[in-house]
Amino acid sequence: MAQGQYINNDATVFEDAQALMALNKNILLKGPTGSGKTKLAETLSETVDIPMHQVNCSVDLDAESLLGFKTIQTNDKGEQEIVFIDGPVIQAMRQGHILYIDEINMAKPETLPILNGVLDYRRKLTNPFTGEVIHAAPGFNVIAAINEGYIGTLPMNEALKNRFVVIQVDYIDGSILSDVIRQQSRLDDMSLIKQIVQFNSDLRTMTKQGQISEDAASIRALIDLSDLATVMPVRRAIQRTIIDKLEDEREQQAIENAVELNF
Ligand SMILES: Nc1ncnc2c1ncn2[C@@H]1O[C@H](COP(=O)(O)OP(=O)(O)O)[C@@H](O)[C@H]1O
Ligand SMILES: [Mg+2]
Repeated sequence: MAQGQYINNDATVFEDAQALMALNKNILLKGPTGSGKTKLAETLSETVDIPMHQVNCSVDLDAESLLGFKTIQTNDKGEQEIVFIDGPVIQAMRQGHILYIDEINMAKPETLPILNGVLDYRRKLTNPFTGEVIHAAPGFNVIAAINEGYIGTLPMNEALKNRFVVIQVDYIDGSILSDVIRQQSRLDDMSLIKQIVQFNSDLRTMTKQGQISEDAASIRALIDLSDLATVMPVRRAIQRTIIDKLEDEREQQAIENAVELNF
């Protein structure tokens, strides 16, 4: 369900992101999985009314998936010609749009330096496939997301990190979480939502005590849990959305204890 806006008790998260964007700073959203990084970028894009182009990083990310590729097309005269199809980076630069680079620390370190000129004040790229020099149109902005320490990620290259200003995006809780569940899930049973929010608060305490990992229950998992709770008993919903995803039996047991306490 792609609805609802990014919300947070700590208004500085959104306000500062918007201010950084107005200053044309590159923004690095840092936080655990399902903490609302993509939602924050989408809400920013809607607020400033500038479309967003997304790149999803993985070890397979290469220059083509960032910049585009050459292909053969037939023109109006019926002749075949080689054309370059712009990828997300060049599209965003030409149109003065937002470029969102998701999971930037999943990319191989040798892939991203191609963006160095795009990320510094020059906002300039020499397309290695065509030789064309592209200057970004006004409005062009870069937002990247990173989940440090997550499986498969690498520490972010310092020269790259140096080009960003960091905004920490943590899991929301309390009444704000209750609002997000109401807006983004099918659940409207307020007393059950209240229990889920309290259950989540206990899980956060267990995270601080080191009993469970931080992302054992992300906001995404809580929304899934709330959806499932409309069609099955809440305990089974928790089993399917949180407990069965964990590999560590002690973590599973800790969460089962929190279930006993709250439901
Ligand atoms: N602070 C928040 N405000 C609104 N929605 C949120 C918030 N945090 C998480 N969500 C919701 O939780 C889910 C996961 O968020 P997402 O932005 O995809 O996380 P991330 O990109 O950090 O992995 C989405 O459905 C999103 O709408
Ligand atoms: Mg995301």
